[in-house]
Amino acid sequence: MRQVRVKAGLIVAALGCAVPAMAQEAPAVLPLNTVQNGPLLVSADMRQGTDLSGPWHYSIDPYRAGIAGFHGEMPERGQQRYADVDVRKAMAEDNRTLYEFDMAHSPTAALPGSWLAQTPEMRHYQGLVWYQRTFDVPAQRKGRTFLRFGAANYTTTVYVNGQPVGRHEGGFTPFAFDVTKLLRDGANQVTIGVDSQATAITVPPPVTDWENYGGVTRPIRLITTPDTYVDDAWVRLTRDGRITVSAHLDGPQAANSAVRLRIGELKLELAGKTDAHGDWRATMAAPRALVRWSPETPRLYDVTITAGEDTWRDRVGFRTIETRGADILLNGKPVFLRGISVHEEEIGANPARVITPDAARALLGEVKNGLHGNYVRLAHYPHSEVMTRVADEMGLLVWSEVPVYWMVAWSNPQTLATARNMLAENILRDRNRASVAIWSVANETPVTDARNVFLRTLVSDVRRLDDTRLVSAALLVDRAKDAAVPTMTLADPLADVLDVMAINTYNGWYTSDRLADLPGSVWHVPANKPLVFSEFGADAKAGFHDGGAGQKFSEEFQAEYYRKTLAMADSLPTLRGMSPWILKDFRSPRRQNPDFQQGWNRKGLISETGQHKMAFDVLAHYYQAKDQAGR
Ligand code: GCU
Repeated sequence: MRQVRVKAGLIVAALGCAVPAMAQEAPAVLPLNTVQNGPLLVSADMRQGTDLSGPWHYSIDPYRAGIAGFHGEMPERGQQRYADVDVRKAMAEDNRTLYEFDMAHSPTAALPGSWLAQTPEMRHYQGLVWYQRTFDVPAQRKGRTFLRFGAANYTTTVYVNGQPVGRHEGGFTPFAFDVTKLLRDGANQVTIGVDSQATAITVPPPVTDWENYGGVTRPIRLITTPDTYVDDAWVRLTRDGRITVSAHLDGPQAANSAVRLRIGELKLELAGKTDAHGDWRATMAAPRALVRWSPETPRLYDVTITAGEDTWRDRVGFRTIETRGADILLNGKPVFLRGISVHEEEIGANPARVITPDAARALLGEVKNGLHGNYVRLAHYPHSEVMTRVADEMGLLVWSEVPVYWMVAWSNPQTLATARNMLAENILRDRNRASVAIWSVANETPVTDARNVFLRTLVSDVRRLDDTRLVSAALLVDRAKDAAVPTMTLADPLADVLDVMAINTYNGWYTSDRLADLPGSVWHVPANKPLVFSEFGADAKAGFHDGGAGQKFSEEFQAEYYRKTLAMADSLPTLRGMSPWILKDFRSPRRQNPDFQQGWNRKGLISETGQHKMAFDVLAHYYQAKDQAGR
């Protein structure tokens, strides 16, 4: 105890101000931003704003000294990276002053972009990094200003002008803060601490099969709105063929306020008034002229909602998706999902998880034009809103998922709260995306009572937030021992509450099955629900050929694996789609075979730099035939 007092004494002496409590004060815990308390700013990417992309100063903080002091108390001022101070000037003015950082003179890195690709030293860094930059705001400003993050992995704490703003948990969904009151005329300073560290109670947990890209991976924008604005809005075609709108205003004029929906190209107008809570819901028969969205005709309409001084806008496609028995119906017609799985990783030898519109088009173009696909599984977490917008424009149906993956802390209430918030953030962000057809609540999770309760909660959250889409999860099957042919049974109790049965299968890759035996496999799955293969796949190192000797990691083996697995797929009467694992080789710390993997999962049909493998054509021909056969 004496040691602390000495330290506190020193600081008091150094700063000449009485802060005896500081040594004892617990570190500040900033308020957690969630869909309940944070601004949603739905369709924020369609709003005016200032993009804060570009160079940001950064400073690593492996021991989180900027979060807590050496005895876990408030961090020493000399470690508070978010302080609103000119360090050099302060230390020059009084040489008793001590700062052990200087953000303004620290190296810079381009944001967005994971720090893994920033410098060789950061390639495997996991932990806390502080980022800081300044931005100007005009003295003449009215309305509200929000600081909006597309995503930052994993926990983010935010300060403006040295003042605490808030924090967020989750690496793949948007969050925003109202910083109106913290701004000053002219130069302002924003500091964020991003901590990529996963723990036993995070979502996902520490062990996955993808690289943990730490940092700010999507744009940070300053968005201005009138005092009262449309914070949430959802415009859709419901299964009864009606255009339905629901919106929520936020601000002093939110209650009992006039609102109007317009879809100019359809000469459609719907007017109304918000209730006492600022909510509005209205519906009308869809006009005959409406062209429904589909992969073949990805028709989007400009939609606006005006309320007072604010205009919310988006580009929306109108379609219905539902199941009938074992069929998936798109706009009332059976559809087969010709898909592939994709990670959020741009094509290139040193990806930083930065998905620009061009990067999204490069990936999704391979699916649409290369593979003749009409569907993509965005695995295993919400991808950038750029991806789902490009899927809207290109005409690709989307499976969207939250990273409830493998071993999650099922009985931990905080973990459940985190997963529920992530799910809600994902759905509220993308409810207006026609491309999104299926919300997935989990991937390859072991069946336990606690898990079932956890996932059933998520399924009911989806149904409460969105009654127009399908719910699923990537499940595992039981495999019969000593059966003459591979025999699988879907016995997961969660299947009862899902619309689509989705199964991951790796027979012939992770099992010793002969590829020749795959077509004869036996599958025991529900007959009254659509089945999709959410995953199957085999690694191949691009350019490694074995002349058909059947060696794993050869392109020939992967191609043959696809031929046999697709033949097996054709034998399943309720199969209505697939998203093989995976479009592109991707980084995974679990894959360290020095000859073939080198830290990459090689199940891609294209290499990390976009080189096509033989199996790409196998799947492309299969989908082309299905497409031409109208199946
Ligand atoms: C699993 C998992 C993927 C993983 C894949 C593989 O099924 O869902 O995340 O990458 O298998 O083993 O390659």
